[in-house]
Amino acid sequence: MGGVYAPGGASETPITLLRATAATRSLLVAAVGRAALDGPGGADAAQVVVVDVTLLPTSEAVAAVAAARAQHAEAAVLVVAASAEPALVGGLLEAGATSLLPADATPDQVRAILAGVRAGAPLVDLRMVRPTLDAHAQHLAVLGGRDRAIIESLAAAVEAKDAVTSRHLHEVSRLACQLAAEITPDLAGREDFLFGCLVHDVGKIGVPEAILAKPAALNEAEWAVMRRHPVTGADVVRPLGLAPMVEQIVLHHHERWDGAGYPHGLEAQDIPLEARIFSVCDALEAMTATRPYRTAMPVHDALAEVHACSGQQFDPSVVSALERGLDRGRITLAAAQDTAPVPRKRTSGLVGCDPA
Ligand SMILES: [Fe+2]
Repeated sequence: MGGVYAPGGASETPITLLRATAATRSLLVAAVGRAALDGPGGADAAQVVVVDVTLLPTSEAVAAVAAARAQHAEAAVLVVAASAEPALVGGLLEAGATSLLPADATPDQVRAILAGVRAGAPLVDLRMVRPTLDAHAQHLAVLGGRDRAIIESLAAAVEAKDAVTSRHLHEVSRLACQLAAEITPDLAGREDFLFGCLVHDVGKIGVPEAILAKPAALNEAEWAVMRRHPVTGADVVRPLGLAPMVEQIVLHHHERWDGAGYPHGLEAQDIPLEARIFSVCDALEAMTATRPYRTAMPVHDALAEVHACSGQQFDPSVVSALERGLDRGRITLAAAQDTAPVPRKRTSGLVGCDPA
């Protein structure tokens, strides 16, 4: 089934050809300039093993490469494949193929790869691997597009349900990304973080509009319903297979640093950092926007309120980061000073920073 080639003379790289077809044999002979039926040292001395799987179905091709790899642990295993079908390429690489060689390669290409072997360079034929990489990238893009579509859909649902507060979704998300960048750039760069911010209130889908838009104080029963929205939201996003961070923000954006928040009463650093960052922005934006039950608070006053709540409602380090970012111009507030008259004041029993 195989022979040993000593391309370019006995001092050159010994090659063992497995499962040779006439075409592959001819190609190798043309590439190395001469054929050697039994080179010095025999198959055991091979530095390159060429496995021709052009005539094999995928499972047998993968098995043949795995067998070659097992028998020649130290050699470069070069696989001649007839197709760049992603499942085949992935299987061959996983089975131990060092590189792939197109069945229609030219002698020059073979020589270039063999030269790479002799130089110890990695053997990667991009022409063969590219379709696999492209397919993988396409798959990720499809998944990413799907996630974005889900987020946009959920955000639109919240906007339709809660017209009173939903207008702050994009502003609070922008602000949260700026604050996250001040604390941990890795987090700010994650799309999952933005997604979590955009759908943080998706659980309000389960809160009656009479409560969401009530222009007066909520009674205890109504607050009990309102306080369920983080858990409802987590139930909504969990089955969607989004990144865990999205659910963390949805579930914990009303926790408080002092443990008096909801739904779980988590305390201090037990609250996920992304939720601690978001909650500060949510409160700040809520205070500077007009609601049915109160006027917009001036930005200066809202910042003072956030500062006063540091260490109680908010993580002090997050509040410090906000103030530092504002001082240095890395965080900007786009809060509109909406001074429209407001009918009544809601008294919730919660501190002034709570956005509900
Ligand atoms: Fe909320």
